Amino acid sequence: MGCEINKNRFCILEIASQLKNTYIRLQSFFYMNEALFQDKVAVITGAGIGIGFEIARQLATKGACVVLNDVDESVANQAVAKIQEEGGRCIAAVGDSSDLDFIQSMIDQAVINFGKLDFAIANAGSTTFGGFLDYPLERFQRLVAVNLQGTFFLAQKAANQMIKQGSGGRILVMSSAAGYQYHPELTAYGMSKAAIKFLARSLGVDLAPQGITVNAIAPGATITERTVQTEGDYANDWSRITPTGRAATTEDIANAALFLLSPAASQITGQTILIDGGWTAVSPPP
Ligand SMILES: NC(=O)c1ccc[n+]([C@@H]2O[C@H](COP(=O)([O-])OP(=O)(O)OC[C@H]3O[C@@H](n4cnc5c(N)ncnc54)[C@H](O)[C@@H]3O)[C@@H](O)[C@H]2O)c1
Repeated sequence: MGCEINKNRFCILEIASQLKNTYIRLQSFFYMNEALFQDKVAVITGAGIGIGFEIARQLATKGACVVLNDVDESVANQAVAKIQEEGGRCIAAVGDSSDLDFIQSMIDQAVINFGKLDFAIANAGSTTFGGFLDYPLERFQRLVAVNLQGTFFLAQKAANQMIKQGSGGRILVMSSAAGYQYHPELTAYGMSKAAIKFLARSLGVDLAPQGITVNAIAPGATITERTVQTEGDYANDWSRITPTGRAATTEDIANAALFLLSPAASQITGQTILIDGGWTAVSPPP
């Protein structure tokens, strides 16, 4: 009888000890996640809505200070207000991400307001559809300006600032599944997004000695304000032809971005991560 009581007491103590250890592990996991980007400083373009906004929001939630760019003033201000309401540190930089003087002013804003620059995320992109045979020059030039010029020179000016600081940094550029596979009416866009993969590959080598990693993210079909408004029955169309059975969410894309910005990814550079639910492996047209 006495032996039975001692055995039960031992079991209860053992369970209590295991619960306590689990609690401590969970607590440190969440604490680490909460503080993962504490006081890191990020500039992100085209982030008033969509993928960029979610990356900015998640960075700020985990302690980073964010300079959030959008060309649309009211969209930028609303985005900043949402992040601040959640307790994040974030300021707006309203302007065109393809303008070289404006790019430098975003870097300067990061340094003046938050003291330095750790992350540059060239997210802004122009997704303009159109058949090859009559694709107009003006549309082409705008696409090249936003997708290539804006991305290239944000990376350049951010890298110069990071090198001046001497403590490395992270640069993320935004490619697309359309830079891997044919997509109807997206030849000019796909061409620019394929070039961005090469930019990451090349800069990953150029900037490695300075401790700066450069990677690209290539989203597949992602549910955003824009895609849902402009591309028909977007979520259902893509769920039918995507191996995982759904289009991506902005959280799916932000998760990969935050991983590449985190200390866990310090040995990854020059890479492009596809986040497409397997679509490019089979790539039926939508
Ligand atoms: N949404 C998708 O399905 C998808 C798929 C593959 C790749 N991408 C890429 O991901 C990135 C973000 O896509 P999204 O769909 O979230 O963005 P989006 O098209 O919804 O635009 C987000 C914001 O960028 C702003 N913007 C556009 N041009 C700008 C400029 N020159 N300067 C400053 N701001 C500008 C817009 O005002 C808008 O508020 C883009 O590079 C896009 O090409 C998106």
